[in-house]
Amino acid sequence: MTTKLVIGNWKMNGTKESASSLIDGIRSSAVCAQAHASGITTVCCPPFTLLSTVAAMLDGTAIAVGAQTCHAKPSGAFTGDISASMLADVGCSYVIVGHSERRKEHHEHDDMVSMQALAAMQAGLIPVVCVGETLAEYQQGRSVEVVRTQINAVAAAVESTPVAAIIAYEPVWAIGTGLAATAEHITLVHTEIARMLPTDIPILYGGSVTAGNAHEIFSCACVSGALVGGASLRVTTFEGIIQAACDIWGEIR
Ligand code: PGA
Repeated sequence: MTTKLVIGNWKMNGTKESASSLIDGIRSSAVCAQAHASGITTVCCPPFTLLSTVAAMLDGTAIAVGAQTCHAKPSGAFTGDISASMLADVGCSYVIVGHSERRKEHHEHDDMVSMQALAAMQAGLIPVVCVGETLAEYQQGRSVEVVRTQINAVAAAVESTPVAAIIAYEPVWAIGTGLAATAEHITLVHTEIARMLPTDIPILYGGSVTAGNAHEIFSCACVSGALVGGASLRVTTFEGIIQAACDIWGEIR
C-alpha cells in the first residue's frame, strides 16, 4: 500500500517558544499516536532556524522533521543557502522542493526543482516535490497540462534512485485562500499524476486543507495525504486533519 502522510509546512512562521508549544502538543497527541499505529506518517517542516529545536524535541518519536527547501549543490559559495546534506545533518528526513512560493519568489523553476530533488535523494532525504497550476492556467482549463510538464521535469530524477519521493499537488490558487479545490478537480488531477509515476509514490493534496475538508479530500482517488500550511500551525487543526487520515486509512496494522 502507498504510504500515507500528513505534512505540516510552517512556512516563515515560528519562534523557539511557539515551536516548542506546538511540538509539545503534537508529540503528546493521542491522534498522532493513533496515526503512527495505523501506518500514517506525520511530518513537521519548520523554518531553517527551528529545525534543530524541533528535531531535538521529536527525537525518539514517530514524527519526522522536514525542511522547506534545499540548494541543489552539496556545499560551496552559496551565501544564505542550505544544502540537503546539511538538513540531514540536523535531523531532517524530508524536504519540500518546488513549492509555488519558492517558484514565484525565488525563481526556482522545473530544472532547478529537479536538481534539488536529486540532491535531496542523494543526501538520503525524501523530497516532497510540489506541482500545481496558477489561477489563470486553471481558468484556461490547463491544470493537467501544466502539472504534466512539471512532473515530467522531475520524473527522471525521481525514478533515478531507490530513495522514495513524494509528489504534492498544490493548485496555486488554493494555497492560503481558504478555497480548496473540489473533490472532482482533485480526483481528475491526481488520477493523471498517478498514471505518470510508479504506483508506490504518494501523491499529496495541498491548498487550504482544514480539519473540515480533509475527510472529503482524503476520500478522493489517488490521494495519499496532505501538505498543510496554515492549519499545521495549531495543534487542534493539525490534529483534526490527522484524525481524518486515521478515519479513512486507519485500520490498525
Ligand atoms: P495552506 O498552504 O494549507 O495554508 O493553503 C499549503 C501549502 O502552501 O503548502
